Amino acid sequence: MIAVINFGGQYCHLIARKIREQGVKAEIFPNTISASELKKLFPEGIILSGGPASVNSENSLKMDLKILDLGIPVLGICYGMQLIAKALNGEVGKGKSKEYGKNIISVKGNDPLLKGLKKEQVWLSHFDTVKKLPEGFSVSSSTKICEICSMYSLKKKMFGLQFHPEVHHTPKGKKILENFLKICKAEKDWNITSQIKSIQKEIKQTAEKEKIIMGVSGGVDSLVASFLIHKTIPDQLFCVFVDNGLMRKNETEYIQSLYKKMGFKHFFVVNAVEKFVSALAEISDPEEKRKIIGHTFIEVFEKKALDLEKEFGKISFLGQGTIYPDRIESAEPSAQASKIKSHHNLTLPEKMNLNLIEPLRDFYKDEVRKIGLSLKISKEFLFRHPFPGPGLAVRILGEVSPKKLSILREVDFIFIEELKKNKFYDKTWQAFAVIFPVKAVGVKGDERSYSFIVALRAVNSVDGMTADWTRIPNELLEKISSRILNEVPEVGRVLYDISQKPPATIEFE
Ligand code: XMP
Repeated sequence: MIAVINFGGQYCHLIARKIREQGVKAEIFPNTISASELKKLFPEGIILSGGPASVNSENSLKMDLKILDLGIPVLGICYGMQLIAKALNGEVGKGKSKEYGKNIISVKGNDPLLKGLKKEQVWLSHFDTVKKLPEGFSVSSSTKICEICSMYSLKKKMFGLQFHPEVHHTPKGKKILENFLKICKAEKDWNITSQIKSIQKEIKQTAEKEKIIMGVSGGVDSLVASFLIHKTIPDQLFCVFVDNGLMRKNETEYIQSLYKKMGFKHFFVVNAVEKFVSALAEISDPEEKRKIIGHTFIEVFEKKALDLEKEFGKISFLGQGTIYPDRIESAEPSAQASKIKSHHNLTLPEKMNLNLIEPLRDFYKDEVRKIGLSLKISKEFLFRHPFPGPGLAVRILGEVSPKKLSILREVDFIFIEELKKNKFYDKTWQAFAVIFPVKAVGVKGDERSYSFIVALRAVNSVDGMTADWTRIPNELLEKISSRILNEVPEVGRVLYDISQKPPATIEFE
């Protein structure tokens, strides 16, 4: 296992993923982890991530410097390299000028980390540089304006890179990380088949004879997690899908048939449409909506759990589709998403006095999809666009009503159907429609009409943190717009959102 210590850099998760892609387990730890805690985990190598601050600033994130004495190979990236330099009596200061973006390094010396590299393009993003090497270190590469662009000490088994090997714009980055894994003699035991086996073993050990209840949302994470539990202890799992009336068109039927097709023994749909819709009546504030939806969900779910206990006996576990970034402090999902998730993760088990079982807690989304594929879950399902927990409620700007829900469902359905028909669904990361709380005038036949405005949004993104609007061809946009205007009589205007995130968010509320 490679331990990645997080100093708040934006690429910390990316480092862990790139290591895992090479078949080695990587785990992220906060900068507060002590040397003794780390030692107990037997990491084969340690990576110190980048970070936004200057190591010379008082507020910069520190680390237990005894970590550098453990005798385990250490790779410092950007801030991590500067930390090593400063800790070992080198000097760090402001560079000649800020280096940001692509640059070329010239490799020198015999650093095994840069083996196979000569003059290479790398991605830099820094102001500070190492001005004076720590004792026993040598320079292994320079750019035109940065003399010490990387450094190494074979004796100490320590390496520093001023640039980022984990990003796409450093083409030989993969080779560098591979070299580091060789230096660490890291075991390549991170593959999907072995992971599925060990997840199943853990499920068996944790809940051998216990009953597990699991709320499934129709999302990829909860489906794959429930599938893993079901595959291991099919009779003991009770899946509950709460129909909150805020789903897309045909969603409940789709989920129901999917679970049926996969042979789940205990799958229950709770129809709570009325309860959710009436709780949301006259509520316009987005946070208020989210809160109401969260609370109503817990209420409905808890009642169903009690009913199931009456029928089947004591339930002691709650299954959840939590994935790795949900658990890590500097998690990637939006603040809103993590807030909602923590709401669900913490309140429910505490309130119901249940133990948690989270089969996917160590995995990234792309790994969850790979697990799903190897379990033969349909590709169409695994690569569905993300859908927010509060559903269409945050896509109806202002007050939610059954009428608006039904209009939006039709619009969304046409949009997605056309994207699929025209092979554009997989070319965009997320696509959806929203409905505005105001109307606009138009003409229908010979009469003036006063109808709803909808907006279509499609974005390209990697993780939802940043996003660019998808360039859907004009002809396709026109086709979608005229279908919506013809088939949904309440809609009189279709807009296409061309805002990037930041400053806009992906969702409208
Ligand atoms: P934003 O709108 O924050 O969205 O740019 C980023 C991603 O998160 C999803 N999202 C949510 N997911 N509960 C969720 O489970 C929420 O309250 C929520 N709000 C946004 C959004 O769909 C996008 O994929």
